[in-house]
Amino acid sequence: MSNRLEDLLVKGAFFSGEALARELGISRTAVFKQIQRLRTEGYQIVASSSGYRLVPRFDGLLPLEIQSKLQTERFGREIVTLEQTDSTQNAVRAMADGGAGEGAIAVALEQGVGKGRMGRAWSSPKGGLWFSILLRPSIAITELHKLSLLFGVAVAKSLEQIRVDARLKWPNDVLVGGKKLCGILLEVSAESDRVNHVIAGIGINANFSSGWLSESFSSRSTTILDQLGKRIDRAALLADVLLNAEQLYYGATREGFGGVLDKWRSLSCTIGNEVTVSLFGRSVSGLAVGVSDDGSLLVKTEGGVERILAGDVTIAPRNA
Ligand code: BTN
Repeated sequence: MSNRLEDLLVKGAFFSGEALARELGISRTAVFKQIQRLRTEGYQIVASSSGYRLVPRFDGLLPLEIQSKLQTERFGREIVTLEQTDSTQNAVRAMADGGAGEGAIAVALEQGVGKGRMGRAWSSPKGGLWFSILLRPSIAITELHKLSLLFGVAVAKSLEQIRVDARLKWPNDVLVGGKKLCGILLEVSAESDRVNHVIAGIGINANFSSGWLSESFSSRSTTILDQLGKRIDRAALLADVLLNAEQLYYGATREGFGGVLDKWRSLSCTIGNEVTVSLFGRSVSGLAVGVSDDGSLLVKTEGGVERILAGDVTIAPRNA
């Protein structure tokens, strides 16, 4: 039985003060005090003759507002929302160190020191959907990089739901019309061959115009607002990404990554294009001919097919 007011209100129904007091084993005055506390935290809770009801604000990203839209079993069942933080990656690391379980997430309205892949910065102004999720995967270390493909697929599927036609650039950039709309960062904590945890950080350029991004990003990025000309409900998008990611993740841990890889290939804008892949000063140019079952990119060069496990891909513009 639930014993938190939050767990009841998140169901979205009306609850009378009397029913809440009974259910929680506290007085009606104590119920009222808790309702007031939640209101000061920013929640909109209406009171009528039918009782109290939580009314999530459009685009509200407080934990209960997100959870009222969640259809997952584990992902997002523990949420911390931060108005400002350096990076949600650090926030989730602290949660992991404090014993948080798989699926715990931190969401930030704004990040001061957003982290990108390969030590780069990630511009994270207000209006974006910046979050990280804690995973405690029971898969081999060699399989871990496939998780980044998995999150790319989850985001692209959710964008499709809101009519944003996204494509995937290996390994995990989500592009629309050749411009980046979402980036994914995986940080792994492991000892010898044992994985402690993985923190998957997802940054979706949502309710701001790409002109708000710092200069180095704005010309090669796009946002949902740029694409749709309107703001979306980030809580609904987040709930959908978490649902897609959870289904793909538990599917992959049970049955392997075959389904994820097939879906990734069908959403790819990398395969079939001339690419240059750079990593640590070395670069390989050629035709991207596929993604193999281990998640590596296959590039056909003059010297043969190269199997690339990590790197930064640039897709050559097609000749008109
Ligand atoms: C990339 O370089 O493409 C990866 C960008 C990942 C950005 C997200 S935003 C939420 C999470 N917190 C961070 O500091 N980075 C990731």
